[in-house]
Amino acid sequence: MTVADSAPTGERRFPPGFLWGTATSAYQIEGAVREDGRTPSIWDTFSHTPGKTDGGDTGDTATGHYHRWREDVELMRRLGYGAYRFSVAWPRVQPTGRGPADRRGLDFYRALVDGLLAAGVRPALTLYHWDLPQELEDAGGWTERDTAHRFADYAHLVAEALGDRVELWTTLNEPWCSAFLGYGSGVHAPGRTEPVAALRAAHHLNLAHGLGAMALRAALPGGARLGISLNAAVVRPLTGSAADAEAVERIDTVATRVFSDPVLHGRYPERLFTDTAHLTDWSFVRGTDLTTIHQPLDTLGLNYYNPSVVSAGDAAGTGPRRDGHGASAHSPWAGAEDVAFHQPPGDTTAMGWSVDPTGLYDLLTRFSREAPGLTLTVSENGAAYEDRPGPSGAVHDPERIAYLHGHLAAVHRAIADGADVRGYFLWSLTDNFEWSFGYAKRFGLIRVDYADGRRVPKSSAYWYSRLARSGVLPE
Ligand code: NOJ
Repeated sequence: MTVADSAPTGERRFPPGFLWGTATSAYQIEGAVREDGRTPSIWDTFSHTPGKTDGGDTGDTATGHYHRWREDVELMRRLGYGAYRFSVAWPRVQPTGRGPADRRGLDFYRALVDGLLAAGVRPALTLYHWDLPQELEDAGGWTERDTAHRFADYAHLVAEALGDRVELWTTLNEPWCSAFLGYGSGVHAPGRTEPVAALRAAHHLNLAHGLGAMALRAALPGGARLGISLNAAVVRPLTGSAADAEAVERIDTVATRVFSDPVLHGRYPERLFTDTAHLTDWSFVRGTDLTTIHQPLDTLGLNYYNPSVVSAGDAAGTGPRRDGHGASAHSPWAGAEDVAFHQPPGDTTAMGWSVDPTGLYDLLTRFSREAPGLTLTVSENGAAYEDRPGPSGAVHDPERIAYLHGHLAAVHRAIADGADVRGYFLWSLTDNFEWSFGYAKRFGLIRVDYADGRRVPKSSAYWYSRLARSGVLPE
């Protein structure tokens, strides 16, 4: 651990203009999966495959946001949340993944963005939060280079429609999950379990980011800002041994640097090739790909939930995990075969993830050093807890408030130590579909009663509201 999170004294005021946001994604909240021309995405197919999600949960209805978005925007307005990160469902705006846009899909997002602006909430749009049109998966999905070109066309369509009113654009959300959970361990859609496919997917996602960023730049007006959201891993060694330090490097390479190096520096780390040489010669990386991937960015989005602790050892013993943030031993996880993951001591959230704000400090200061001049945005941070309504219907969630308090103190400290962090997007505005965990895990500031769709702000929603309005973190 590099820094102790000691209780600071004095007022912790965030810089003027700091974005106080919340975040969601299309498949996790919208529902209405067969409406207005939307076609199935890989997550529709996957969640409808028996055994893939807890309780067989699907995003068919989710929180009903597609029809209740006005209510959700009104809640943001009333609570004073200044920004909102949402994603566009690719199969809603370009149902086959190719060709012209479906006007109805674009109209939905136009209305949402206009509603946000009218409510004084600044829209931050993510183009890809994991819902690839099924037709593109049928043609090979992210293992195929063509998917990166299809993504660039899709980016262009959305930018033409919304570029005049969205100021912050994110190409991809957590490409590590798309590549390694989707094609390696198979615990996310499309559920393939081929290590080489995961590595091919990682490269094609990087290429999609580069081509998408170029398409956005060509279509967006000058003021629009552009980034990518990475779930860069915070990896710590179990012991001070050289072997454990080596395990940390191995995971850092295949979890973080496989994306951050090409995106920020236009190269893959040399050890990525050596660590995966038993699987592939990486001949799918072509001539100018790395230049294409290395596009200028306005901000780097970082999603942080918890750190991982690793040692040299056998990953098989630790078992496969189903999330992008846990002590993730994904079997088979290309390049990480001889690493064991350990549960850190201390408190955990309902996901079993350890609560450790120092990881967020370490992440922000790392990238602040690694990419000087590039602004940083915490594009996700938050926690699931088993909060339940009391007799009056109110939901008191002191654990979530404590989690948020600790992590925002860490953001504040990183800023004080020189990291240029411009905003914080709390995951999540409302409870929602937590991928293979279904609806059992609740990350929301606002509770959703799935029986009738009713929204009830939790205590944390009011706590965050005071923070968003004042810009000052309470003691
Ligand atoms: C990261 C993902 O982007 C989001 O979709 C997910 O719900 C949260 N982490 C919590 O696991």
